[in-house]
Amino acid sequence: MDKLQISGGVALRGEIAISGAKNAALPLLCAALLTREPVTFTHVPHLNDIGTMLRLLEQMGVKVAREAGKVGAGDTVTLDASALDNLLAPYELVKTMRAAILVLGPLVARAGEAKVSLPGGCAIGARPVDQHIKGLTAMGAEISVEHGYVHAQATRLKGARIFTDMVTVTGTENLMMAACLGAGETIIENAAREPEVVDLATCLNAMGARVSGAGSDVIRIQGVDALHGATHRVMPDRIETGTYLCAAAATGGDVRLTGTSSAYLDAVIDKLMDTGCEITAERDAIRLKAPARLNAVSIRTAPYPAFPTDMQAQFMAINAVADGTAVIRETIFENRFMHAVELIRLGADIKIDGNTAFVKGVAELQGATVMATDLRASASLVIAGLVAQGETVIERIYHLDRGYEALDQKLIALGARVARLK
Ligand code: EPZ
Repeated sequence: MDKLQISGGVALRGEIAISGAKNAALPLLCAALLTREPVTFTHVPHLNDIGTMLRLLEQMGVKVAREAGKVGAGDTVTLDASALDNLLAPYELVKTMRAAILVLGPLVARAGEAKVSLPGGCAIGARPVDQHIKGLTAMGAEISVEHGYVHAQATRLKGARIFTDMVTVTGTENLMMAACLGAGETIIENAAREPEVVDLATCLNAMGARVSGAGSDVIRIQGVDALHGATHRVMPDRIETGTYLCAAAATGGDVRLTGTSSAYLDAVIDKLMDTGCEITAERDAIRLKAPARLNAVSIRTAPYPAFPTDMQAQFMAINAVADGTAVIRETIFENRFMHAVELIRLGADIKIDGNTAFVKGVAELQGATVMATDLRASASLVIAGLVAQGETVIERIYHLDRGYEALDQKLIALGARVARLK
């Protein structure tokens, strides 16, 4: 099992390219199920989760062509779902990547049936999919949940008005994709406003769908009889962008990230400026210059456009070495503080009370061996390792490889002393 060895204390400097967004690419790949014609995606990040999704689609009969690009440019992936012949998403694949639930809506809409393993929980929470089921049921699907599988059938989905009980990103995406081939108009209220939802809607409309309102909390979809092929470029990864900005901030560095922008990171940029960082936003790049010592900043996670839960762990690492005490409230997931105990091993002063963490900045962290538990927790350990004195070894870094393309190469390009150990 790979480990990452980091010798801390180096201020990150230089320039790297940001990859395509994992959380945009995953639903986009599933959208190809909605048509018999080939769909091509460019700027697809080369990540383990993407590989898992492509394996899942391939075992359904989707023809997959994947052309590797250089790091940062992304892969070009063409999917042809004309010969769809297996409507099952098996537990073996779904348990390693929860986003596999995103085949449910497209399969029911395109083929009238789907049998998808329940994703099960993960380190950060129970992660139920009841809203996905509620919405498809409202659109007329017959759904049973037995032996750990969601079995959905529908001759043809029909338009419905759906009000999700909470804001759900993949729930919104699943229902939006399903509604594209439904009979009549579907309205999704309390919809997720994340930029990845908008990227998906843009691709669906390029395929002939009639989606409006994406990016707001009310999305309207006029169902059509069929969708056609298209080519779509995956949007930049705003969470990867935020992660490298945090790494530069924590190490007192000066970095420029290209192929990205501050467009979808206002809440994060605001908080980084509150720490004392200087941010320069360009059309297709963003630069951060950090002060010698950061001010602590309190955060409260919430659905977009508020502060993203996927950046919470990274800000806990920043606050671990900032001046003052920060209060971090996690309102989206019930167990997303797994990184705290590992940061404490590195010398951080953190107290957890329910979904609130109190982080008192310390003068410095000391390197140690720590364990990654989930994708963004791993990122916070990398940031802490970069700033800690001495050597940090992070175990189970397969979590990182799921969501960060060429992380070690990119850090080394910024001057970090990082090595991947087998
Ligand atoms: C997406 O997960 C992202 N994943 C997550 O990123 C991200 O943290 C999350 O949205 C919130 O922004 C992808 O896009 C592939 P939710 P998702 O449905 O859609 C509850 C990462 O690190 N809920 O918006 O699964 C749920 O338990 C990952 O890249 C229900 O109760 O999250 C949670 O408390 C981690 N029932 C809240 O809603 C449902 O049917 C928000 O979850 C659906 C969700």
